[in-house]
Amino acid sequence: MALHHYFFGTDKQRAKFIFDFIAPIYGVLGKAARKGYDQICDKLNRRYALLNYSILDVGTGTGEWLASISKYTDQQSVGTDFSAKMIKQARAAFPDNEFVVNDAEALTKFDDNSFDIVTASYVLHGMKNYDRAIVLKEMKRIAKKFVMIHDFEADTPTVVKVLEFLERSDYVNFKKNFKEEIKILFSETDIVKCPRTANAIYIGIV
Ligand SMILES: C[S@@+](CC[C@H](N)C(=O)[O-])C[C@H]1O[C@@H](n2cnc3c(N)ncnc32)[C@H](O)[C@@H]1O
Repeated sequence: MALHHYFFGTDKQRAKFIFDFIAPIYGVLGKAARKGYDQICDKLNRRYALLNYSILDVGTGTGEWLASISKYTDQQSVGTDFSAKMIKQARAAFPDNEFVVNDAEALTKFDDNSFDIVTASYVLHGMKNYDRAIVLKEMKRIAKKFVMIHDFEADTPTVVKVLEFLERSDYVNFKKNFKEEIKILFSETDIVKCPRTANAIYIGIV
């Protein structure tokens, strides 16, 4: 991906350019986020007993969310991302987990109903609603039990607003509409509010 993709490319080319560009330092942010991820997953584990569930993490980045949500289980844990540079960092940081390069809109490497939980953290708010719907449908296809989306829900800190502006993400519409968007695909849904952050885990029950 080249710089012109940021200015003149499609939404996906721009996102890929940004994430490839920041991949070498993204793990530093990830390490800082890890404590918060652990606290959120502890709360999730109290409600959903994550023991014995296989997990696929879509848009895994450098793998921290996968490390936090999979620490309760000894079943297969796999992270996937369209940025080979992110996947390279994830493999180095978490050699015990498996990582695969794949676009979230066509997760062709994964069979129907092949993971108990399919999750994504801070991925879907970056996409426009039509792309989000495609990814959510792919996640549902692969999930046996739950789709779990960790993402923004309430107030967004100013620094994050600036980053989201640069990424030209869809976080404002995501916060407004996602609770309804997930209900289009799943007849049963749930929401777990994250401790100490304005985020939530939106859950679609398969
Ligand atoms: C904000 S980062 C979040 C990383 C990680 N999930 C976390 O919570 O720390 C978003 C990640 O989603 C990935 N991503 C965005 N769009 C994608 C797509 N269409 N297919 C696969 N990965 C995608 C990016 O490469 C990036 O690693």
